[in-house]
Amino acid sequence: MILASSLMFIQCTSDPIEGLAGANGANGANGADGTDGVNGADGTAECVACHNVANIDHAKASYLLSVHAQETLHATQNAAKTEDFILTTSDYTNRTGCVECHTSGGYIDKMNGVTLKTGAGVAEHDPAYPAGQQAVSCTTCHNKHSTFDFANDGFDFALRQALMPVALTAPNANYTIAMGSSNTCVNCHQPRGLAPTTATVKLSSRFGPHHGPQSTMLEGIQGALYVGSTVYPAPQSAGHRTGASCTSCHMGETTDGTDGAHSWHVTENTCLECHTSGAPTEVSGYAADMATLEGLLVAKGAFSSTADAFTSNTVDLKVAQAAWNFAMLREDRSNGIHNPNYAKALLKNSIQAAQ
Ligand code: HEC
Ligand code: HEC
Ligand code: HEC
Ligand code: HEC
Ligand code: HEC
Ligand code: HEC
Repeated sequence: MILASSLMFIQCTSDPIEGLAGANGANGANGADGTDGVNGADGTAECVACHNVANIDHAKASYLLSVHAQETLHATQNAAKTEDFILTTSDYTNRTGCVECHTSGGYIDKMNGVTLKTGAGVAEHDPAYPAGQQAVSCTTCHNKHSTFDFANDGFDFALRQALMPVALTAPNANYTIAMGSSNTCVNCHQPRGLAPTTATVKLSSRFGPHHGPQSTMLEGIQGALYVGSTVYPAPQSAGHRTGASCTSCHMGETTDGTDGAHSWHVTENTCLECHTSGAPTEVSGYAADMATLEGLLVAKGAFSSTADAFTSNTVDLKVAQAAWNFAMLREDRSNGIHNPNYAKALLKNSIQAAQ
């Protein structure tokens, strides 16, 4: 029995017995259509928002209006007056201590962590980087995207330092400034020294924070904080720091094609976002207080109005602090607008210090 049934089983599985095929049933009715799926993202739409002819042409056209593109001319002459030089700042400054801000090649090397090249002292005869090719141009600031996940990582605009906060140059490298895409500007538009602290200070025509202290003004730091009767506003508290930035005021939407975008000339459209009834053109009291301070610095032998420069006299700390703030406000070149309340406090207290 067991043998017979196992033989039957084998037969069933390996060699089934064919029955008669039944007739095919009628086709069922079509099911209802499913709901539409979510649209897939268009592969390049996000990219085309920036990468289109209009945007690139606009960037190039506005760039040509900028001071970055022109470079500023700096005339100088050797001591014997036997030769004349008419130089761009990037030739004159094509040497150690200057190249990271004044030459495109130096900036790129700094951003890449590469050792900066050096010239042999006289930049106009032995420049650190190839002369005549050092204007701040597209590839100075832009290189490549760090990721393409803009939704999660934010736009990096392919900027070289990829929006990394900027550690200020020595001796204040512990302080970092984080302003998003404006960090690109902070790298170069920052001071090269700190306010005086010694009991007496020997001045010189170069005394001051150097020509580009705009980012520390906006941040509200590195003035000489003489304690006078006006309270200094806290760092980062300026309305122009919390609600605006270098790129919003200097690269916003153009009013008439001559400002904003890559011209870096301030556009009033940005001001009107906050100052809805028209942008104030000056910081109240600024011009009068600067004139008062200049008069006091002249009286103390710190400044010469005729030479429009600091003297080489030695002054006490209070006068040196007032002189530092005077230099910082002049070199910032926004007439206090970058940080109105900080500028006002620096001026009022400096006037007290220099009395
Ligand atoms: C931390 C960056 C930085 C360094 C380092 C630096 N500069 Fe500058 N410099 C600037 C910026 C930014 C400006 C433009 C500021 C402005 O126009 O408001 C400037 C402007 C100047 C100007 C004025 C240009 C003009 O015609 O108005 C001279 C001159 C100058 N720098 C010389 C030098 C020299 C010389 C060195 C090296 C010993 C040097 N700089 C190092 C950032 C720097
Ligand atoms: C001094 C640095 C700098 C230089 C030089 C520069 N860019 Fe830019 N660019 C920026 C910054 C910063 C942004 C981001 C602006 C923002 O945050 O709105 C930007 C944004 C852009 C954008 C994005 C869309 C837009 O217009 O905002 C394009 C495209 C662009 N740049 C192209 C160029 C081209 C082309 C050149 C050369 C002609 C150039 N850039 C030179 C700093 C620079
Ligand atoms: C917020 C504006 C913006 C967006 C969005 C954007 N880019 Fe860019 N991209 C730039 C700028 C600015 C540059 C530098 C200037 C230039 O080369 O036009 C650049 C440069 C590039 C470069 C050349 C540099 C490199 O990385 O080698 C490539 C490739 C590129 N982008 C691809 C893309 C792609 C792909 C997308 C979409 C996934 C995209 N970009 C989206 C602004 C943008
Ligand atoms: C590589 C260093 C560098 C970077 C990055 C840079 N600048 Fe400049 N900028 C300079 C120098 C140097 C000058 C002086 C003119 C020259 O030599 O090109 C200058 C000049 C200017 C001027 C014109 C000043 C005048 O004389 O009228 C403005 C405005 C300006 N920069 C704004 C910005 C803004 C905003 C950013 C950021 C988007 C920026 N810069 C990024 C170095 C830089
Ligand atoms: C609230 C808007 C605003 C912000 C934010 C701002 N600026 Fe300005 N900036 C101005 C105004 C206004 C002037 C004066 C312009 C004039 O007189 O034509 C100015 C002047 C300047 C100048 C002098 C050259 C010029 O164009 O006259 C430089 C350089 C400069 N700013 C760079 C910067 C940098 C770098 C940052 C960021 C650290 C910055 N600015 C942030 C509004 C702004
Ligand atoms: C994000 C908003 C915002 C933008 C954009 C803005 N401002 Fe202001 N502005 C303020 C605030 C807030 C104050 C008051 C001072 C403060 O809180 O730091 C102020 C103060 C001022 C002052 C000082 C007025 C006084 O009587 O002392 C001037 C001048 C000024 N802004 C000019 C400008 C200009 C020019 C622009 C455009 C280039 C501009 N602002 C863009 C918010 C803004």
